[in-house]
Amino acid sequence: MNENNKYVERISLSLPPQLLKEFDALARKKNYWNRSKAIADALREWISQTEWVEGRGVKVGTISVVYEHGRGGVVDRITEIQHRFGGSIIASMHVHLSHESCLEVIVVKGSPAKMQKISNSLASLRGVKHCKLTVVQ
Ligand code: NI
Repeated sequence: MNENNKYVERISLSLPPQLLKEFDALARKKNYWNRSKAIADALREWISQTEWVEGRGVKVGTISVVYEHGRGGVVDRITEIQHRFGGSIIASMHVHLSHESCLEVIVVKGSPAKMQKISNSLASLRGVKHCKLTVVQ
């Protein structure tokens, strides 16, 4: 399905009132002004997560890594991992968070197994405080 497709199909849904109430409350909290848009995003998320768990298709995601750059060798190891998986890495961004900490956001593309392998390699390094893989689509 084309994300930018202007054409939509109208459907009608039957939902338990409490579920709809909770959904609307959450959508408001997330600043959705359009219920259809909120439902479409929720459906996309559900499809994306299901496909992710089932491990199908090529995915795009980000790996956010927070580390202490002063810890022996961590910078070299992070660079080495990114070169090793260069074919799956689209881009990376470095932010100097504080005197001690750096944030590296790495955009990855590939199979779920490959993305998890890259993320696990980074997460297990000494000096890495936080490592989170997020699947975008
Ligand atoms: Ni830095």
